[in-house]
Amino acid sequence: MPHAPTVIDHPLVQHKLTLMRRRETTTGEFRTLLRELSPLMLYEATRDLPLTTRRITTPLEDMDAPVIAGKKFCFVPILRAGLGMLDGMQDLVPPARVGHIGLYRDPKTLEAVQYYCKLPADIGERLAIVLDPMLATGHSASAALTLLKEHGARDVRFICLLAAQAGIDVLAAAHPEVRIYTASIDRELNDHAYIMPGLGDAGDRLFGTK
Ligand code: URA
Repeated sequence: MPHAPTVIDHPLVQHKLTLMRRRETTTGEFRTLLRELSPLMLYEATRDLPLTTRRITTPLEDMDAPVIAGKKFCFVPILRAGLGMLDGMQDLVPPARVGHIGLYRDPKTLEAVQYYCKLPADIGERLAIVLDPMLATGHSASAALTLLKEHGARDVRFICLLAAQAGIDVLAAAHPEVRIYTASIDRELNDHAYIMPGLGDAGDRLFGTK
């Protein structure tokens, strides 16, 4: 049974998302907002991680203080729009490793085609957090997760800004154990597989390529 996606309804997340959606938001503003939003989403996506205790010494005495149990992180942005989420994530978890997966969407078939993959060798011992602002058809997200698993990843979460139900269904069918976190499930995909009402092409808006 797949996990139901978690919609992060925190007011700060929703407000910033609205600013990002607006047509008149500039490339610079869009990039800053995505960077600001990312750690807020990571905060929610990690709230159930198990804790253990570690013996530490404060200036006054020893104590058993809570720390995250075991798992180290690896952020995996899907190129290129996922890069816009990376800096904000690293601000929150500086020692995390970073893997990169490059996929493009074949404009005719809408299938994901891999052109790059570089992951840490110990990905199997890490919590892999896949980053892509847009979960549209789910094809590239699903291909990225398959690739990660082929490289040994066993514990994977997926964070996006916007999702379409169609993409969630594709991802959940192929990778039911992967938890999905999003700030919104939008109405539908249009004929070009863009999320509606959405925010347009996240990569173009982030890098000013349109
Ligand atoms: N990718 C985007 O950048 N935007 C969409 O709406 C769908 C996929």
